[in-house]
Amino acid sequence: MPRPIRSAWLKTLATVAAVVLLAAIVGRALGQPALAIAIAALLVLAWHYWRLRRVLQRLVARQRREPSQGGSVWDELDRLLHRNQREMRARKQRLLGMLRSYRAAAAALPDAVVVLDRNSQRVQWFNEAATTLLGLRHPRDLGRGLVDSLQPMPLAHWLAGGRNAEPILDIASPVDPAIRLNLRLIPYSAEHWLLIGRDVTRLLQLEQVRRDFVANVSHELRTPLTVVHGYLDMLDPEDFPGNPEMLEEMRHQSQRMARLVEDLLTLSRLESQQHSQEEEPVAMVPMLATLRREAEAHSQGRHDIHVEDEAGIDLVGSPRELHSAFSNLVSNAVRYTPAGGQVVVRLRREHDGAVLEVRDTGHGIPADHLPRLTERFYRVSSSRSRESGGTGLGLSIVKHILGLHGARLQIESEVGKGSVFSCHFDAARVRKREPAFPTTVVE
Ligand SMILES: Nc1ncnc2c1ncn2[C@@H]1O[C@H](COP(=O)(O)OP(=O)(O)OP(=O)(O)O)[C@@H](O)[C@H]1O
Ligand SMILES: [Mg+2]
Repeated sequence: MPRPIRSAWLKTLATVAAVVLLAAIVGRALGQPALAIAIAALLVLAWHYWRLRRVLQRLVARQRREPSQGGSVWDELDRLLHRNQREMRARKQRLLGMLRSYRAAAAALPDAVVVLDRNSQRVQWFNEAATTLLGLRHPRDLGRGLVDSLQPMPLAHWLAGGRNAEPILDIASPVDPAIRLNLRLIPYSAEHWLLIGRDVTRLLQLEQVRRDFVANVSHELRTPLTVVHGYLDMLDPEDFPGNPEMLEEMRHQSQRMARLVEDLLTLSRLESQQHSQEEEPVAMVPMLATLRREAEAHSQGRHDIHVEDEAGIDLVGSPRELHSAFSNLVSNAVRYTPAGGQVVVRLRREHDGAVLEVRDTGHGIPADHLPRLTERFYRVSSSRSRESGGTGLGLSIVKHILGLHGARLQIESEVGKGSVFSCHFDAARVRKREPAFPTTVVE
């Protein structure tokens, strides 16, 4: 027991004992000791009762009361209660202050922030930016279902995805269609979701400027390059007896530049599309035959090439674009596999969808390069790629084409053992093979 409590306790005991003793002495003098002690005990009890009442009053009182000053155990208890109440009030004030500053910070965020009830998907709170970007209004939208409040945004299906909902990268704001928004859903507790809407209008404009710039530069370079290329072709190596390799090197580099420009133009075109250009059956038998011929031409007999058709299906999309994507993967496999290696192109089923995979036993790719492989101009070993004549745009083109077809590229690789590049198509892109399909593959 702490010292102050112990001494208050002893003081109270001593006082009670003194009162009882005094009553016994007085009672004895008056000839009624038992009655005097009984009256003293009743007085002590009444005093304790009165002090207990004051303690209870402190506990239920709303306003602050000064602590008692006396030295009894009840006064000590009163002081302890007063101290606890003061500390509790201070903690509450601190927490309230923190809560207010968090709210103020969330309210001042430039991004729209909306707190939703997870089950009913009703709006519980939103900040000022949610008014300017999403058109939510106080108090009209508080407690309303988010899907109704954000009409005509098509969010019902997206919200149903909950925890697995992929961010919506670009959607028009219901306030003004010129404002483009990026939406993401964050389930931050068992009962609540957070919807964050970011204004990406400026970012998308900059992206567009960059795309236009690359497309325009590539377009402008195309004509002068064709002219240079034409003149170089007309020159005769015998006109340069002192340096016969010079002309060959000039031709080689001008071809490389022409390829680069063509690839950049292809990328610009793909980037400006929302979906694949054509939606038609892509006959996979002639497609696989073309890929085999291309691989063999590229390999010049240096590799063991297999094409395996296990799926017996056709795809739906743009034959030209899909051919370009698959052919990029096949040419990589041949290019980055030393002579004597194996290249396998396989079409197989996966659940309701299909996979076209290109497997090689080549150099392989270190794991830390894999996430960046589809970036433009990204090369694992620039010297090796440059030697092989690559521009570093191939996989970027593949990724875009697959994206336009709702498919995804998966890359697995082990250094020294080889790589597998798989294109995963979902059920919507797969259809039963019909032998009578016209051959639409571009060779
Ligand atoms: N099958 C593969 N095996 C090993 N490395 C590969 C393979 N495929 C791609 N890579 C690596 O990934 C890099 C990027 O490939 P990408 O096809 O984008 O460019 P590239 O082949 O250099 O040029 P191009 O634009 O002519 O295709 C390559 O430089 C190479 O280092
Ligand atoms: Mg390539």
